Amino acid sequence: MRFYLSSGLRLTSCTAVLIAANVVTSQPLGDHEGVFSLEIPKAAFGASIEHDSSFASFSFEPAFWVEFFGNSTSPNKLAFNLLNLIVAHGGQPMIRPGGITMDSMIFDASAGDPARTTNPKGGVYRTTVGPAYYQSWSNFPEGIRFISTLNFGNDSLDIARDLAVASVKYASNDSITAFELGNEPTNYPSSRWKNSTEAYVQQWKNWTAQIDAAVNMALGAVAATEFGSERWWASSATTDQTGLEVLPNALIPAGIDSRNQVADYSIHSYPFSTCDPTRAVLATTQNILNQTALAQYADEDIYPSAKAALDAGNRWIIGEFNSISCSGNPNVSDTFAQALWVIQSELIYAVRNASAVYLHQGAALVFQSSQQVNSAGQNGSPGYSTYDMFYPQDSEKRGPARVLPSFASQLFMAEAFAIPDTRVRQLETPSGIDKDYFAAYAFYVHDKLNKLAIVNSKPYYANSTSDFTVTLHISRYGHLKKGTRAWLKRLSAPYVNEGNANKTTWAGQSFFDGHETGDLLVETIGRDGLVRVRGSEAVLIFFDKRDANMGAC
Ligand SMILES: *[C@@H]1O[C@H](CO)[C@@H](O)[C@H](O)[C@H]1NC(C)=O
Ligand SMILES: *[C@@H]1O[C@H](CO)[C@@H](O)[C@H](O)[C@H]1NC(C)=O
Ligand SMILES: *[C@@H]1O[C@H](CO)[C@@H](O)[C@H](O)[C@H]1NC(C)=O
Ligand SMILES: *[C@@H]1O[C@H](CO)[C@@H](O)[C@H](O)[C@H]1NC(C)=O
Ligand SMILES: *[C@@H]1O[C@H](CO)[C@@H](O)[C@H](O)[C@H]1NC(C)=O
Ligand SMILES: *[C@@H]1O[C@H](CO)[C@@H](O)[C@H](O)[C@H]1NC(C)=O
Ligand SMILES: *[C@@H]1O[C@H](CO)[C@@H](O)[C@H](O)[C@H]1NC(C)=O
Ligand SMILES: *[C@@H]1O[C@H](CO)[C@@H](O)[C@H](O)[C@H]1NC(C)=O
Ligand SMILES: *[C@@H]1O[C@H](CO)[C@@H](O)[C@H](O)[C@H]1NC(C)=O
Ligand SMILES: *[C@@H]1O[C@H](CO)[C@@H](O)[C@H](O)[C@H]1NC(C)=O
Repeated sequence: MRFYLSSGLRLTSCTAVLIAANVVTSQPLGDHEGVFSLEIPKAAFGASIEHDSSFASFSFEPAFWVEFFGNSTSPNKLAFNLLNLIVAHGGQPMIRPGGITMDSMIFDASAGDPARTTNPKGGVYRTTVGPAYYQSWSNFPEGIRFISTLNFGNDSLDIARDLAVASVKYASNDSITAFELGNEPTNYPSSRWKNSTEAYVQQWKNWTAQIDAAVNMALGAVAATEFGSERWWASSATTDQTGLEVLPNALIPAGIDSRNQVADYSIHSYPFSTCDPTRAVLATTQNILNQTALAQYADEDIYPSAKAALDAGNRWIIGEFNSISCSGNPNVSDTFAQALWVIQSELIYAVRNASAVYLHQGAALVFQSSQQVNSAGQNGSPGYSTYDMFYPQDSEKRGPARVLPSFASQLFMAEAFAIPDTRVRQLETPSGIDKDYFAAYAFYVHDKLNKLAIVNSKPYYANSTSDFTVTLHISRYGHLKKGTRAWLKRLSAPYVNEGNANKTTWAGQSFFDGHETGDLLVETIGRDGLVRVRGSEAVLIFFDKRDANMGAC
């Protein structure tokens, strides 16, 4: 049964409306054809580490900082409305202003907002930031914290140290959680360290020690002690095979953390790419939604390093990721498919004990590849990445500033990890369901089942001969036996290739200007315990009705 909550009532009476919801019993219980049972362990034993509300975080390419966020006096309304929505739904993302352009970023005390130096085609040679850049961090919702990213690319200790010192001087107190020295060192000219892990580690340790000393001086003894010594992200490498091995499983044995400086080991994850024509043909909807392929990439390319970090007693994170490197694939990553991909991928890393994942947002980088599918706009104007969750400005290349369908997945994730210390496990896909396009997860709080997530990522198009609905039976779980009900929010769009965020809904609402539009729709699961999930839909099931109301009050 569905019930509707009008947006007008939302602020006053959401709890009352939830209590008033009806239970409708549809089909009789039974093992009839086409109904699958989910086996759901009651206790958290064997589930992931405890996650919190900053699990689903973001990385933004710093060269385009002003386009995305504006400045202190003119903040970008759309961006902040969207961030505020995520926070209202229980998320507390962290922000890493990082990516390729951090490696040519410099601080100049006389400069203002971040400014790019580019060639006529939009290639970014340099991004110059002044005090206003760090001051603009205080525009962000309360509780959002930042990674201070430092330029390693220019091979200048002065440049890196000046950025670090400026960030602690001008950003508001406690807004910096960590420093990161360099982005994807695997892509630097190989003459720098001559493919020697030891040479890289030596320079990294030498510089971080000197930067620590300068930062501690700027902070003063008390604040420096509070910050602690474990304040660095290490690695920041991609999974591409290059001559330089600096993923955590190479760095840790080479002694990167011999001085206990590493907070998080960061790995970058891009399972698909449009950087060259060979890989671009594989960057399809059918492939990016293939759960088997995504899990395989995580297990083979990422997990060995993740395990090395965990075994060393450290946290690990996906410090930058998205579906398709080199700014996505138009008509794939700018559609509803990307929303499903975000949920699939973030949960894959959550169960592999990543402490956070930083979804990357930016624009095409001309110097990244000469063979890429994407490009900047006319006269080098930004060609926003088609994997972004919103286009922050009107642009010649991408049209009006707007939210994209994938944004709604952030509200799904915000609600999934809204409760502190949530643990998650993947559930066995019942036999008979297509494993390539299905994933189910159970969430636990204080060792009790709290939520379920079910993703049916099978691509469903207007011309599909079936809607690929999977019907699951969850009533064998104790909660329901005792007559306790469950509530469900659905992430949906007409078809997997929907490109209009107005037609993409989370619990019945869309978010075109960063506000909820439409009535909140929370479904009640009846005593029969049946849950239907169409192809290209994802649902979050709540066993506590107060959690289901998240974001509505
Ligand atoms: C902020 O941006 C606005 C609009 O682009 C501009 O007019 C203003 O000068 C900027 N403010 C500062 C302090 O740079
Ligand atoms: C930093 O390196 C980039 C790329 O090599 C170069 O274009 C830029 O001029 C350098 N910046 C400085 C300040 O040296
Ligand atoms: C940070 O805290 C110090 C010491 O309490 C204070 O002097 C300084 O003004 C604060 N800085 C900012 C940017 O709020
Ligand atoms: C860093 O390297 C320089 C040059 O090799 C050396 O003089 C200095 O002592 C080193 N500093 C640290 C903290 O390792
Ligand atoms: C580093 O390794 C790569 C890939 O194996 C190779 O192409 C390159 O020539 C090597 N560079 C140096 C300086 O040895
Ligand atoms: C999904 O990916 C797996 C692993 O790469 C592959 O074996 C399988 O054929 C793919 N399924 C579809 C439907 O493309
Ligand atoms: C994307 O799809 C639209 C509408 O189907 C089509 O007009 C456009 O050419 C496609 N763009 C690309 C880059 O394939
Ligand atoms: C994740 O952490 C939990 C709790 O420590 C552990 O039981 C589980 O084996 C870990 N899983 C992976 C994939 O590392
Ligand atoms: C169904 O529609 C999709 C998206 O428009 C298209 O890529 C595909 O080729 C169509 N399939 C058939 C069998 O016509
Ligand atoms: C979405 O809906 C709003 C409000 O009706 C409208 O202004 C906007 O143009 C629509 N956007 C698209 C892409 O259809």
